[in-house]
Amino acid sequence: MSEPAAELHPKKLFIKTYGCQMNVYDSDRMADALAPHGYEPTQVIEDADLVVLNTCHIRERAAEKVFSELGRLAEMRAEGRHFTIGVAGCVAQAEGEEIARRSKAVDLVFGPQSYHRLPDLLARVASGEKVVETEFPAEDKFEHLPSPPLEATRRRGLTAFLTVQEGCDKFCSFCVVPYTRGAETSRPLRQVLDEARALVAGGVRELTLLGQNVNAYHGADADGRTVGLGELCFRLAELPGLARIRYTTSHPSDMSDELIAAHRDLDKLMPYLHLPVQSGSDRILAAMNRRHTRADYLRLIERIRTARPDMALSGDFIVGFPGETEADFDETLSIVREVGYASAYTFKYSIRPGTPGAQMAVQVEEAVKVERLARLNELVMSQTRGFARDCVGRIFDVLIEKPGRMPGQIGGRSPYLQAVHMLGPESLIGTLQPVEITGVSTNSIEGKIVTHAGHKPASVNESTPVAAE
Ligand code: 5AD
Ligand code: SF4
Repeated sequence: MSEPAAELHPKKLFIKTYGCQMNVYDSDRMADALAPHGYEPTQVIEDADLVVLNTCHIRERAAEKVFSELGRLAEMRAEGRHFTIGVAGCVAQAEGEEIARRSKAVDLVFGPQSYHRLPDLLARVASGEKVVETEFPAEDKFEHLPSPPLEATRRRGLTAFLTVQEGCDKFCSFCVVPYTRGAETSRPLRQVLDEARALVAGGVRELTLLGQNVNAYHGADADGRTVGLGELCFRLAELPGLARIRYTTSHPSDMSDELIAAHRDLDKLMPYLHLPVQSGSDRILAAMNRRHTRADYLRLIERIRTARPDMALSGDFIVGFPGETEADFDETLSIVREVGYASAYTFKYSIRPGTPGAQMAVQVEEAVKVERLARLNELVMSQTRGFARDCVGRIFDVLIEKPGRMPGQIGGRSPYLQAVHMLGPESLIGTLQPVEITGVSTNSIEGKIVTHAGHKPASVNESTPVAAE
């Protein structure tokens, strides 16, 4: 690896992140990898010496956005701005050389498994090379990526992502992830616990464990024994100072008994689960290669709700998968009604080259997809509104994260990830407070801190507030 040169000339790094939370995590780690080499983050693209687009390939539109942004960057360069342009993430992995060919301005294309090599790749760019690096290197990138300095963690706030697992072996027939992110791999338990401890030492109070198929986590412990996500949650819950644990995204077939038990036993594990089903029709689930039926999913939800009665669910749904009939789509509407979601992400099927879905003969017409999406959205939006309304009168522990928009106001998140606003002093930032929900507005809910009820927040295990800064 090239020598750190921070003291020589500070440079500015602008990263634009597309797509999922794993990319958000990766962007921070890229910034951490470049910090010892003199790069400081900037939010102002015009100030940048290096612009990185951390891209998403999950649906067609996501990839298109990257090419239009590259066009804009190329124009800025043509107008005389000097910055290096790098393309990272899943589009980089999937398209590689094609990006360098389509956009002449691009200096560096590098896939998610090469982030620890970024300083070296930039050194090659500086010596005049156009670099495309999309191999899956033999070494473990996480062993080589530097941990964020304490100061950077503090700046990033009270909540943090922690990638514990990457890639996917499920091969759902619509999905590019197994091709762009590769085979499923889990980080060793020690690595995850060390990173979690460092984040907590830097003031983090809520961790979201990330993975494309996070509940397939199977990290090795020091004795070579395999540890699942349930056990990992139990271990993380022992960390003093850590108040909340979340994880995303899960596959129904990987909800182990131990993970369900963790939901039953751990107050720190939030009762909010993103568990995509994608479709309510067995015919379509089979064509999607989802490896579970509608009945399997519903039985699973029942077991989870028995273990944790206040569990709220969120999901992903695809409409217009090849061959989807009106009757299949009705089954999707009916599973949404049967489960009752607190929130849901809905997508029109988008052909991804190289996936089995792209080869399927009976593609659904765009107009049909648009119409089905509208009907599904209407249903999930009414459920989301209903869920928020049902929260009124309940008392939640809210993690107070920041000052509110109005003077005297503070803001935080409920266990269900809702933004909550209330009156209160900024000294409460970093603590969990019992908050009675009093009202609902479009994108947030309002509440008041309950001081008289003698309610003790369930997941506070020490009283020292951790400052946001
Ligand atoms: N078309 C539409 N939606 C897709 N997703 C993944 N691939 C596709 C595709 N080809 C959705 C799935 C997944 C979420 C992250 O994106 O619902 O759970
Ligand atoms: Fe893609 Fe998720 Fe299916 Fe894996 S489980 S192939 S990441 S949709």
